[in-house]
Amino acid sequence: MRNVTADNITEVFAAYFGPDTDPRLRQVLLALARHLHDFAREVRLTHAEWRKGLEFLEWAGRITGPERNEFVLLSDVLGLSSLVDMMHSVPGATSSSVLGPFHVSNPPPLPIGGDLKGAWEGEVVLVQGLVRDMQGNPIPGATLDIWQTAPNGMYSSQDPEQDIHSFHALMTADETGRYAFTTVRPVPYTVPDDGPVGEILRAAGRHPWRPSHLHMIVAAPGFRTLVTEIFPEDDPYLDEDTVFGVRADLIMRYQPQPAGSFPAEGFALSGKVDGPWSRVDFDLVLAPEGVEEAQAAAAG
Ligand code: BEZ
Ligand code: FE
Repeated sequence: MRNVTADNITEVFAAYFGPDTDPRLRQVLLALARHLHDFAREVRLTHAEWRKGLEFLEWAGRITGPERNEFVLLSDVLGLSSLVDMMHSVPGATSSSVLGPFHVSNPPPLPIGGDLKGAWEGEVVLVQGLVRDMQGNPIPGATLDIWQTAPNGMYSSQDPEQDIHSFHALMTADETGRYAFTTVRPVPYTVPDDGPVGEILRAAGRHPWRPSHLHMIVAAPGFRTLVTEIFPEDDPYLDEDTVFGVRADLIMRYQPQPAGSFPAEGFALSGKVDGPWSRVDFDLVLAPEGVEEAQAAAAG
């Protein structure tokens, strides 16, 4: 086509696809181009702004490596990661939420009742609950990959003072679907803001803070793997998570418990907690594998 114009360029783009293009790829690329073209027309994008955008992407590429992915962070702060999560959530199952960059592979196994707190200062928090299906049946043997910040606000991979497995654990739910461990409260922290994404946040007058949270990946055969986080109801950043990860069903409560009431057995810290402590009860509900496909088929 010789007569490409600002008005017909999207149709010309569509006409350039080869006949054997995968239909889904065609649909996605075409919609992407349509929205990009509309976006450029809507804001009347200038050469200088377009160049700045490309320089931004180039900077994000330079800073990205095995330890840091600036493109994922960009998707997070633009709300795209959370939008994709929410579009595929299953009503009745626990919501998913961003994975973030601080998960480590091969977390050490932790028995039920085990402890993540170690020698760190802070009130003991006992976290416990059931892993169950959408009908309320327990899922024995479900695995929970758990991680959080240390009280100094850093994940192990950010902090040379911590062992890489500090505040990371893999727990297997018992025959009743129960999990339980002790820890300290995670704390709010900022997403990495020393790169191009940080520059966008500052330019937009946004802060880089996330509310404190506990990450979990919960998996069991026959169920959709759940990547999620749970957030305390009293966190100051609960309503302004810079990566939009908070959902109503992911909010938990620290329930204060009096001194002397810590369970006498069943926990690595049994017999070692004299002062007050807190309890968090949180059940995790998994959706069956293939549930979305089944819903789509039923909807015709
Ligand atoms: C996190 O929760 O660890 C996280 C999530 C998204 C971006 C950065 C950090
Ligand atoms: Fe996190």
